[in-house]
Amino acid sequence: MAEWQRTHTCEQLRPDHVGHTATLNGWVLTSRKFGNQIFIDLRDRYGITQVVFEGDNAEIYAEAEKVKSEWVLSVTGLVRKRLEGAARADIATGAVELEAKTLRVLNTCPPLPFEVSEFGTELANEDLRLQYRYLDLRRRSLQKVLILRHRLCKVIRDYMDANNFLEVETPMLGKSTPEGARDYLVPSRVFNGEFFALPQSPQLYKQLLMISGYDRYFQIARCLRDEDLRADRQPEFTQLDVEMSFVEREDVLSVMEKLAADIFDKCLGVKLPTPFPRLTYAEVMAKYGSDKPDLRFGLEIVDISDIAGASEAQFLKEAVAQPCGCVRAINAKGAAVAKDAKGAPLFSNTALKPGGELPKVVETYKAKGLAWLKVEAGKLTGSVEKFFSDDLKAQLVAKLGAADGDLLLIVAGPEPVVCDALGALRQHLAARLKLYKNWWEEKAEHDESEKKKLDAAKKKKEAYTPVPFQPRPEHFNFLWVFDFPMFGWDAEENKWAAMHHPFTAPMDEDLEAFKTNDGLGKVRAKAYDMVLNGYEVGGGSIRIHRQDVQSRVFEILGMSADEAQARFGFLLDALKSGAPPHGGIALGLDRWAMVIGGTTNIRDVIAFPKNQRARDLMTGAPATVDERQLKELGVKLS
Ligand code: AMO
Repeated sequence: MAEWQRTHTCEQLRPDHVGHTATLNGWVLTSRKFGNQIFIDLRDRYGITQVVFEGDNAEIYAEAEKVKSEWVLSVTGLVRKRLEGAARADIATGAVELEAKTLRVLNTCPPLPFEVSEFGTELANEDLRLQYRYLDLRRRSLQKVLILRHRLCKVIRDYMDANNFLEVETPMLGKSTPEGARDYLVPSRVFNGEFFALPQSPQLYKQLLMISGYDRYFQIARCLRDEDLRADRQPEFTQLDVEMSFVEREDVLSVMEKLAADIFDKCLGVKLPTPFPRLTYAEVMAKYGSDKPDLRFGLEIVDISDIAGASEAQFLKEAVAQPCGCVRAINAKGAAVAKDAKGAPLFSNTALKPGGELPKVVETYKAKGLAWLKVEAGKLTGSVEKFFSDDLKAQLVAKLGAADGDLLLIVAGPEPVVCDALGALRQHLAARLKLYKNWWEEKAEHDESEKKKLDAAKKKKEAYTPVPFQPRPEHFNFLWVFDFPMFGWDAEENKWAAMHHPFTAPMDEDLEAFKTNDGLGKVRAKAYDMVLNGYEVGGGSIRIHRQDVQSRVFEILGMSADEAQARFGFLLDALKSGAPPHGGIALGLDRWAMVIGGTTNIRDVIAFPKNQRARDLMTGAPATVDERQLKELGVKLS
């Protein structure tokens, strides 16, 4: 071992080491002078140790004076106990410090584009941090998330292995599986004019593995989709991809919820109650206006079409009279009298007027407007009060369970618009009324209050050990949604589209409707989604394992027999060669890491993510290529 190499990491030293000589290697997090001492917080992946350079050791003190943030050091010194009452609670090594005897500068650096420390400084803007991602990754909070992500994958692999699943890799260069997004294409040099597609998921390969008899497959798989990005979407993301033979829906759900329980137990110390609630698509759309509802709070949507249709309001009557029209409402309990932090009304009449806070939310989802009623001293007041007779008012109050202080919010229109608008309003109201808290927000408050207790104890020269925060099962709301419609009408393309993907089996009860052309809107699929706190964290289905059924789906989707054969001939042939009944699922691993890691930004759980415009700001990709490369590929730019 070279002299400069570490004997300990920056997380290891404890009172037991007092009197020992240790060598640490790491980066300078902070350096400060205090009297005739210099204190350097030395940081590595494992933690932080305070190093002290004493003024009476003139040579080393002078060396330490030159040291700047983020220089790489090797320090050899004597481990000593910190003064009574001076132990630091913010770091694991806080009871001791290293008195430096030898300092070796392993590397220097000029002032960096931003400060790596998270303490007391505003974070640099995200684009700058993405450009210098290697610096940003030095931050403790990012390290913690990546460590957690590693743990997550380890728990998954152990669980899958223990349950007889085989990890099999599938190609990156292949033919695309339609999963609803655009493909990333790779031109072939050997076959000019022909392209590989990068996988949107390993869907067809895993089905083919079932036909090959592999029975239980999994893969931690990269998927690539050229789609519009959001806070929970990346063009390149990771799935835990799973497929099983000889199974029905319940077999898949049961394996996956046990895995979820194992992950939460081992990664967060949370014991999840299983089985998770199971709700149909029709139920969640009607009650929560979303196929991935956040059920950490209530605010259920109630259909009031019958009452609204009998009112004098023309727009309500017209909505009800439409073939798919309806009127629905949310009773925001207590929202009419709720106050903000400064004591002002949370939802003033301005917030309810056209163009105000709440109408804006529903208008984003194409609703024409938001009607509202408040309950005050047993009476209804508000924008549509005058259109309801006393009898209808009494019916409304009873149906919505309304009481003094409640705010009733009403949207009328075609059912899909009403669902989307009220679904979004429900989520907005819950956040504004603080009906739920993310566990990491609660942790931040907890840590703050523990710090205050520690400071108070220090002042009184008393001992206090801060209590660590423990997330609880109620912070995580899991559910399954199933019985999805099999097809949705694509008005732009004027044809049916698969709601999940075209390899999903129709429900046995709906097979007759599936054979006819006018019953297709009613056919339900054997598809299911796993939902956690309002995120779709997984989706899968029981597959079609009969060639005739698969051909019929291609036909419904507007593919001629020749086209189906040209695109998916390999699958159709395979289905004819002894395909077992099979089904599976894929979990969005990045979204799991987000919830477990305590962030709402998917870029925080990926080491080298793309920005919101799908660009890698660090390397500059995508970038132009040489004329020569294009020529080889037979590609001409227009
Ligand atoms: P699906 O398309 O529903 O199903 O994807 C499965 C899960 O992957 C996650 N996910 C994403 N995460 C981050 N960024 C994205 N762009 C992104 N897109 C999807 C979601 C989603 O629930 N082959 C099927 C699975 C199957 O049928 O077995 C599939 O890929 O959490």
